[in-house]
Amino acid sequence: MAYIEINNIHHSFGNLEVLKGVNMKIEQNSFVTIMGKSGAGKTTLLQVVGTLLTPTSGQVIIDNTDVFKLKDKQLAAFRNRHIGFIFQFHQLLAEFTALENIMMPALIAKTNYRQAQQRAKELLDRMQLSERLEHKPSELSGGEKQRVAVCRALMMNPSVILADEPSGSLDSQNKKELHKLLLDVKQQFKQTIIVVTHDEELAKISDKVYMMQDGVVK
Ligand SMILES: Nc1ncnc2c1ncn2[C@@H]1O[C@H](COP(=O)(O)OP(=O)(O)OP(=O)(O)O)[C@@H](O)[C@H]1O
Ligand SMILES: [Mg+2]
Repeated sequence: MAYIEINNIHHSFGNLEVLKGVNMKIEQNSFVTIMGKSGAGKTTLLQVVGTLLTPTSGQVIIDNTDVFKLKDKQLAAFRNRHIGFIFQFHQLLAEFTALENIMMPALIAKTNYRQAQQRAKELLDRMQLSERLEHKPSELSGGEKQRVAVCRALMMNPSVILADEPSGSLDSQNKKELHKLLLDVKQQFKQTIIVVTHDEELAKISDKVYMMQDGVVK
């Protein structure tokens, strides 16, 4: 059985059927990209896999858990522990420092504060951001913000990291660095990563490229 199984996912917004039977099997520690034109349903699919959106029908199994069978509270806890998100515009909390932003998933899970702080510091260290712990997002560069967002996604050592156009708001240098970072994350942290991207370069370095078209992936 694959680490993540996406079985016959359908999703409609009103009369608009966006996902028309999506099937994917993703192995552990693989790095897959999903491409496809604007409006194809990539973000919708990623939200379903991230359990943020319950599909009209179909099944998502992550690390042996049939996620949409979970009750609301269990699902929220599952998401917090097993899924790390990286968004196009980082979505860091403006009022909090880099360190606090990274700790946030652990604080939500009510894990030990000191341990969380220790892990967040180690992650920042590995991303060469030790000098920026106390900086708020507005006091970080675009690339730094995105690295902080990667640390936050890694905080709980999740089963899978989902990224929706993570380099979409970066210049070409920072884009390259972020791509390298995602590869490092796969290699060093043994993460399973699913990235939606319009970037051919990123697709080229991934283990598998899926194309989303006409409501299905191929
Ligand atoms: N909440 C919603 N309500 C109604 N329609 C929606 C909703 N969210 C998305 N859609 C529609 O579903 C389709 C797929 O949207 P989605 O955001 O998944 O596309 P995408 O592949 O991520 O596109 P892009 O590359 O531009 O980000 C679009 O036509 C969009 O207008
Ligand atoms: Mg999108």
